[in-house]
Amino acid sequence: MSRVAVVTGGASGLGLSICEHLARQGRHVGVLDLDAAAAEEAASALRASGAKAVGVAADVSDRAAVDKALGEVRAALGPIEILVTSAGVSGFVPFEELTADVWARTLAVNLTGTFNCVQSAIGDMVAGGWGRIVTISSAAGQTGALRQVHYSASKGGVIAMTKTLALEYAAKGITVNTIPPFTADTPMMRTMQESKYLPPAEVLARMVPAGRLGTGDDIAAVCAFLCTDEAGYVTGQVIGVNGGAVT
Ligand SMILES: NC(=O)c1ccc[n+]([C@@H]2O[C@H](COP(=O)([O-])OP(=O)(O)OC[C@H]3O[C@@H](n4cnc5c(N)ncnc54)[C@H](O)[C@@H]3O)[C@@H](O)[C@H]2O)c1
Repeated sequence: MSRVAVVTGGASGLGLSICEHLARQGRHVGVLDLDAAAAEEAASALRASGAKAVGVAADVSDRAAVDKALGEVRAALGPIEILVTSAGVSGFVPFEELTADVWARTLAVNLTGTFNCVQSAIGDMVAGGWGRIVTISSAAGQTGALRQVHYSASKGGVIAMTKTLALEYAAKGITVNTIPPFTADTPMMRTMQESKYLPPAEVLARMVPAGRLGTGDDIAAVCAFLCTDEAGYVTGQVIGVNGGAVT
């Protein structure tokens, strides 16, 4: 069945891989990103591969912009049945140097941004009696992470929000799960490595029992499964896709 999916942060990294996997399953895909040109480029590549896709621009922390962008997806593709929230920002700052602005922006994008997108989309799923929501959180939200008080708090909030939404919508045919990556080789990870707070890839890989970093495909394959009919009895779960790094 085709089904309409929206992937936030869909223009890069994990979000882009998730768009590709959903499109391969026959989903119609709305690629939402802060970077309008990159969202359109990703959608255009999906169309070139035979999928139905649109690119829309919004800052997920801006509720009016999210409502407008999701309205554009509805107009082009139909009601939203699948939502994956991958848009996010990260960073390393020792706690005493963490400014209120960086704290607020991280919470606004990662946590309030997830709230904005879910609340803006979920009415379609309730009306249709079917929905799949996957939030992309982080291992930092499970275990904490050095110099990432802001990021860990935002992602811990995403995990708690996911579990609670799952309870609220389980009887309405809507599942809500989260994938908390540990390390996946994406533009975000490479930017973090430039900050010198994140070790080089070969050192990171040794911290993973599987002996390698995650890929976009590792995460996207599990995410796409969580968006199927067959995964309808999986809800409220924290599904680690991390090579055994967090058990
Ligand atoms: N890569 C990893 O190792 C890793 C580990 C743990 C968690 N994560 C999480 O996975 C998600 C995806 O990360 P990634 O590695 O693919 O990063 P990425 O930087 O490659 O992609 C993130 C995308 O989100 C978009 N974005 C950022 N702020 C936005 C906003 N305010 N509104 C709309 N779009 C916005 C960016 O433009 C970009 O296209 C993030 O939520 C991140 O916190 C990643």
